Amino acid sequence: MTIILGLESSCDETAAALVTADGQILAHRLATQEEAHRPYGGVVPEIAARAHVEALSPLIEAALADAEMTLDQVDVIAATAGPGLIGGVMVGLVTAKALAHAAGKPLIAVNHLEGHALSPRLSDRTLEFPYMLLLVSGGHCQILLVRGPGDYARLATTIDDAAGEAFDKTAKMLGLGYPGGPQVEKAAAQGDPNAVPLPRPLLGTAEPHFSFAGLKSAVMRAVQSGHYSTQDIAASFQQAVIDCLIDRTRRALGQADGITALVVAGGVAANQAIRGALEKLAADHGLPFVAPPLWLCTDNAAMIAWAGAERFAVGLIDDLTVPARPRWPLDPAAEKARGAGVKA
Ligand code: KG4
Ligand code: ZN
Repeated sequence: MTIILGLESSCDETAAALVTADGQILAHRLATQEEAHRPYGGVVPEIAARAHVEALSPLIEAALADAEMTLDQVDVIAATAGPGLIGGVMVGLVTAKALAHAAGKPLIAVNHLEGHALSPRLSDRTLEFPYMLLLVSGGHCQILLVRGPGDYARLATTIDDAAGEAFDKTAKMLGLGYPGGPQVEKAAAQGDPNAVPLPRPLLGTAEPHFSFAGLKSAVMRAVQSGHYSTQDIAASFQQAVIDCLIDRTRRALGQADGITALVVAGGVAANQAIRGALEKLAADHGLPFVAPPLWLCTDNAAMIAWAGAERFAVGLIDDLTVPARPRWPLDPAAEKARGAGVKA
């Protein structure tokens, strides 16, 4: 059985995992840098890159020890090659190249987004292509048609902020700390989702794109007004995000034929209220709903090893000269959404 070592270092988690080609997770190790970035309320790229350098080799050794194996027994080395913070991405990719070269193993440069996109097939081995994926993370908010490894059609993206970014900024405005998503979810559970009138940007428009900048500004005004409790703002904000995600995904479902399932992935998919709403939407359309377990939704190396496994299976192997890429869209043919800023 082919064994894949996966490395992840594109943001603030350093991770190493060993996964088999049939989807057994032999080991997965992760070191989060949350504490190092907390004083700054966000990820500081230079701090992140240094922390990845320190953490990565011990994590690889620990993963190998957990699986009771040596590097010789690994068949394929996979690492995130982008998109993400370039310093961190380079740490992981260079390490993977060195290991691949030294051990004479094939290298697979994985798009971090493809790691998220294929992760549901690691947790649910019955999930078949093509499926509709809502990819919601700190840097991305996209609806994709997933047709196979390396084969994506982007149906929608955000014209400004990502959903996770909106959660993080709302947390910051409410003084809930970093990382924001889980804190906002916790506060929201104690609040009234109808307490604060907030906008639902782009709701009902024909193209299923997203926008969260106007919502963020409205949250800011609600905070500054002093009229509302933290819990009520958090609950109302989360409900506005859910309404946007559901409306936009419903629109995309109306435009796609022949899909096997509705799938959610990325860090924001850890949110239980969002999962619940998507599950209901899928049921309304007579589709199975697939969401990876929480630990597989946020950044990890098992999803990178698994994407490596899927690519290896169809012969998508990379050269040692493959570059690290700060930007790397999954669907290079997709046009920029109207009004889109710099995000891919
Ligand atoms: O996929 P991920 O771990 O990293 C990126 O590739 O961006 O996603 C991180 C994002 C952060 O914005 C974080 O606040 C958000 O996912 N997140 C959540 C929850 N857990 C993590 N957002 C809402 N509710 C959560 N429970
Ligand atoms: Zn991610």
